[in-house]
Amino acid sequence: MDLSVNFMGLQLKNPIMVASSPLTRNGEAMKKAIEAGAGAVITETITSEIRRSVKPCLASNEFGMQNIYFFSEYALEDWEYEIEQAKDCGGTVIANIVAYSASEMAYIAKRVEKFGADAVELCLSTPYGDGIEVLASEPEKVYEFVDEVVKAVEIPVMVKLSPSVNNVAKLAKAAEKAGAAAISGINTIRSILGVDIEKGKTLLPTYGGYSGPAIRPISLAFTATVAQATNLPICGIGGIDTYYHVLEYMMLGANTVQICTSAILNGYGHIRKLIQDLEKWMKDHHYESFEQIRGKALDSLKSFEEMKVEPYIADVADDENDTGGKEYESSCVYGAIYRNENRLKVDPEKCTGCGLCANRWPDIFKMIWKE
Ligand SMILES: Cc1cc2nc3c(=O)[nH]c(=O)nc-3n(C[C@H](O)[C@H](O)[C@H](O)COP(=O)(O)O)c2cc1C
Repeated sequence: MDLSVNFMGLQLKNPIMVASSPLTRNGEAMKKAIEAGAGAVITETITSEIRRSVKPCLASNEFGMQNIYFFSEYALEDWEYEIEQAKDCGGTVIANIVAYSASEMAYIAKRVEKFGADAVELCLSTPYGDGIEVLASEPEKVYEFVDEVVKAVEIPVMVKLSPSVNNVAKLAKAAEKAGAAAISGINTIRSILGVDIEKGKTLLPTYGGYSGPAIRPISLAFTATVAQATNLPICGIGGIDTYYHVLEYMMLGANTVQICTSAILNGYGHIRKLIQDLEKWMKDHHYESFEQIRGKALDSLKSFEEMKVEPYIADVADDENDTGGKEYESSCVYGAIYRNENRLKVDPEKCTGCGLCANRWPDIFKMIWKE
């Protein structure tokens, strides 16, 4: 089946890209991602001034990962060779770049264009130091940076935004007005993974970026917000581990996605598995192109003004069903779930229709219309 997509004018063999990270730290690493089937690779962030990362710089918990990598440790000029290596094995390479002034950003963009990058991704979303305040949160700044880079290069300019702001729609619109070819997001979320309470110390020695499954709901909201606010193509990033997550992003308006933490934790082979599973799902559901599913779930997403109070309550899905667990009764904050002669029941007078039981145990509870 043909999984190819046209994204920002680039013809990609599939919509799965590998995100800016140690997975794309140099030519050899990017080659592994391309050989695993990635539709494109995004370089680790290229700067004009190297800042070495402190060690250790990675820690994870059951929900995700915190990193304090301070971008690529390769000099700007070294990237000519690294990009060439990835291009030589047939990859599409997007250079992720960052600078603290628009003119410097445009300078780096021109250099990586010369090195052969197929597009640039502006990292206006760094979670470290004072990066967020400086780069990511003001529409005027976003406009200034994007405008200057767009005027400086011929290749498409994608803008990677931060979730740690409350004006995503305005930032995306500013990027669109300045001529961006696409929006990507999210970057990692400014975080402290945890504290070792015996030592009284944070697990990593500075604020870092949080990634992985825990950030997916935040990024799904980001994707839908950008899809509703702009006409730009979108590259969804955050917590993608399976084909199912890819489809969630697409149904909320993403054209492509990037994968990072799950490939760091499971290896490059995970990318191939995800692409194979995605292809199988598309075949099984008789879809021929991703355009047929893109944005499908956006219609179900209502604004606050459109919300209506509907008379739903919970009920037991199957009267015969009694798994004997006590957790159901104690799990209802309204005290509506009870047991009568060993059968689970829902008290319609107490149930407020919050829906949590039907969401947690769909085999046991269902929502019904209360006339
Ligand atoms: C170890 C690590 C290093 C990263 N380095 C960069 C970077 O240099 N530039 C960048 O824009 N994003 C960087 N990211 C963020 C990822 O590109 C991605 O936006 C984020 O991890 C969310 O995706 P995920 O949940 O699939 O990991 C990094 C993420 C991790 C985990």
